[in-house]
Amino acid sequence: MKTSASLLVLAGFFVSAVCLNGPFSDRPAGSILSAAPLSARTAEGPEIVEDSMHEFMEYVFQPTYRRLKVSMAGEPNDSKGWKAVKSDSLILAESCNLLFARLPEENTDDWVHHATASRVDGAALYQAARAKDFVKATSAYKSMLNNCNACHRQFENGKHILEP
Ligand code: HEC
Repeated sequence: MKTSASLLVLAGFFVSAVCLNGPFSDRPAGSILSAAPLSARTAEGPEIVEDSMHEFMEYVFQPTYRRLKVSMAGEPNDSKGWKAVKSDSLILAESCNLLFARLPEENTDDWVHHATASRVDGAALYQAARAKDFVKATSAYKSMLNNCNACHRQFENGKHILEP
């Protein structure tokens, strides 16, 4: 009875460890970010705060995308409107850089390609917003979402297809 109980605890631990990390390596090759346990992360320099890809997308990318969708629904008519686009495009573009520290175990090159393409378009959207150029901003925005979606198609079996 005692043995089967501890086996159960062990199995539970294993399952939750696999679920938490998903298919993503917690010690990505070439990553400059530490993969030490969360509680032990106090070293100076960059360190991953949230290992889970799910939480990372849900709390960094999703709210930013939702705000951007509202801001880009029509041409901003004041600098406050453009500021909102500048802010969210910059957050997304810089956050794409953080994807390089979260490489999957397989098809790493494709991951890097999608992350790079999303970042380049996010940066173009930021620049267009600085110039208050809605035509350029719209095209960069749509192209960025195509690249976000390309990664979701390949690595998420087509879930999370985002509409402009
Ligand atoms: C290199 C791959 C990759 C790129 C590029 C990428 N994502 Fe994701 N995204 C993922 C993965 C993987 C998930 C699923 C995470 C999970 O649930 O485990 C995801 C999930 C999401 C979700 C759903 C979150 C939820 O809670 O259901 C949103 C929204 C999202 N991404 C937004 C974006 C946006 C916006 C961009 C582009 C600026 C983007 N992603 C670029 C890999 C990527």
